[in-house]
Amino acid sequence: MLTFLRQFFRDARNTGSIMPSSPALARAMVHGIATGAPQRWLEVGPGTGPFTRSLLAAKRPGDRLVIVELSKDFCVRLDADILAPWKRANPEQAAEVVLINAPIEDAKLEPGFDHVVCGLPFNNFPPELVERIMVQLRALIRPAGSLRYFAYVGARTLRDGRGALRGAAPLAAIEDRVLAGCARTSDVVMANIPPAKATTVILPS
Ligand SMILES: C[S@@+](CC[C@H](N)C(=O)[O-])C[C@H]1O[C@@H](n2cnc3c(N)ncnc32)[C@H](O)[C@@H]1O
Repeated sequence: MLTFLRQFFRDARNTGSIMPSSPALARAMVHGIATGAPQRWLEVGPGTGPFTRSLLAAKRPGDRLVIVELSKDFCVRLDADILAPWKRANPEQAAEVVLINAPIEDAKLEPGFDHVVCGLPFNNFPPELVERIMVQLRALIRPAGSLRYFAYVGARTLRDGRGALRGAAPLAAIEDRVLAGCARTSDVVMANIPPAKATTVILPS
C-alpha cells in the first residue's frame, strides 16, 4: 500500500491510482484463465501484484507467465514479496515465471500468448499511446485468446501528454477501432477503490 502511494507521487501518470486493485477486481480479471493445454500468459503493469497473485494461484505446472513492469521499485517489491517466495515454494515451476523491467512498448516478446492481463492505467495515457499499446497487445495474442484490462468507472476521457483532458478521444473509440471483430464483455466491480470496469476481449478464431 505504501509502496503504491510512494510510486503514485513519483509518477502519477504511469501509476494511475493511489492504491492497488482489490482481490475482487483481480478475480474478475483472471476468471476462467487456466483451461486446456499448458498456456502462455502475459501480465502488463503488475504494480504490487494483486493480479499476479491470482495468476500464480491459477497457474498449473507447464503454464508460463511473463510479467512486464515499467517501474524498477515495483519490480523489486513484486519479486521480494510475491515471486521469490512463490518460486521457493514451487521450485519446479520457477523458470516458468519471468519478470521483465521495461515499458511494454519496448519489450521484445514472442507472440502467441493465450491470455494477456493488462493493468495499465489507459485513462491516464495520451490516446496515441493507448492505441499503440492496444495494437501491440492484440498482435501478441493467438486467435481465440483473450485480452483483459480495466478502467475506473467514470474515467471516460483520455488525457493528452500534458495531463489536460482531451474529451474528444474516449477510450471507447480506440477500443472500437483496435478491437474490431473481437467479442467484448465487461463487468463492473464495485468492491474496488474506485469501482472499476473489467473488460474481457476474445479475439476471433
Ligand atoms: C494502475 S497501476 C495497476 C497495478 C496493478 N495491476 C493493480 O491493479 O493494482 C498501473 C501499473 O502499470 C505500470 N505501467 C505504467 N506504464 C507502463 C508501461 N508502459 N509498461 C509497463 N508497465 C507500465 C505502472 O508502473 C503500474 O505498476
